Amino acid sequence: MAGILEGKITLVTGGSTGIGRATSLILAREGATVVIADLQDEEGANTVALIQAAGGKAEYHHVDVAEHAAVNALMGHIETTYGALDGAFNNAGIEGPTAKVLDYTVEQWERVQRVNLTGVFVCMKCEVELMTKLNRAGSIVSTSSAAGLIGIPGASSYNASKHGVIGLTKTVALEYAARNIRVNAVCPGFIETPMLNRVTDASVKIREQMIRTVPMKRVAQPSEIGEAVAWLLSERSSYVTGVALPVDGGWVAM
Ligand SMILES: NC(=O)c1ccc[n+]([C@@H]2O[C@H](COP(=O)([O-])OP(=O)(O)OC[C@H]3O[C@@H](n4cnc5c(N)ncnc54)[C@H](O)[C@@H]3O)[C@@H](O)[C@H]2O)c1
Repeated sequence: MAGILEGKITLVTGGSTGIGRATSLILAREGATVVIADLQDEEGANTVALIQAAGGKAEYHHVDVAEHAAVNALMGHIETTYGALDGAFNNAGIEGPTAKVLDYTVEQWERVQRVNLTGVFVCMKCEVELMTKLNRAGSIVSTSSAAGLIGIPGASSYNASKHGVIGLTKTVALEYAARNIRVNAVCPGFIETPMLNRVTDASVKIREQMIRTVPMKRVAQPSEIGEAVAWLLSERSSYVTGVALPVDGGWVAM
């Protein structure tokens, strides 16, 4: 049976590890060619090798998502090589420090905003530009967070950036709905990735405390985000645009 993304050309940012890697594998499994953009070259090559070993198609590019010229150059490569961009997953992100606002420096604030919000803006802008230039329908998904829906003490810039991703998603969804470019966000809860290990200092105790707050009483595997993203990128979700979908085991429903 053909996959739900058969023949589609897709871009995944932050695809070297974690949610981005797991999603890249799922998109390729569903028939998409996956262009990965990240800064971790060795891990990016590993993601490509995993996809190719499973019979899929992928390539890796060293691109900083917040560098407009670099993202533009990647779009040029996609246009020349494939003549299409059907889907994009703007997923690259960083967590920033854990500190109350009084201890959060302006430099720390700006570093997080640059990747998590400006990076998504730059990618979205370039993706919409290419999709409209080629006069094609498209689907764009960005990674917000449960922290984009509620406040979490100790992460002011991260939370603001993830709320910002949802505002940006709704705005661009409305701007391009009539052109059949759909724009949505996913809001992961606690997902088993290198980022979660950094945030919890790989502490079993902190992890157990975290799990107690989740209605489903577990963290998720990154592939559980990837399945939602694959659906949003596919035509199976053809009338869905402007949504921020929690994939969080019920965490923000509480
Ligand atoms: N893990 C969680 O529990 C969780 C929960 C909610 C949201 N998220 C979000 O999911 C996304 C993926 O995170 P993850 O948990 O897989 O973490 P991760 O650290 O494993 O992956 C993030 C990836 O983004 C890349 N990246 C960082 N800055 C970049 C830049 N400037 N340009 C290009 N690539 C860059 C990193 O190299 C890395 O490969 C992030 O946006 C994160 O905020 C994660």
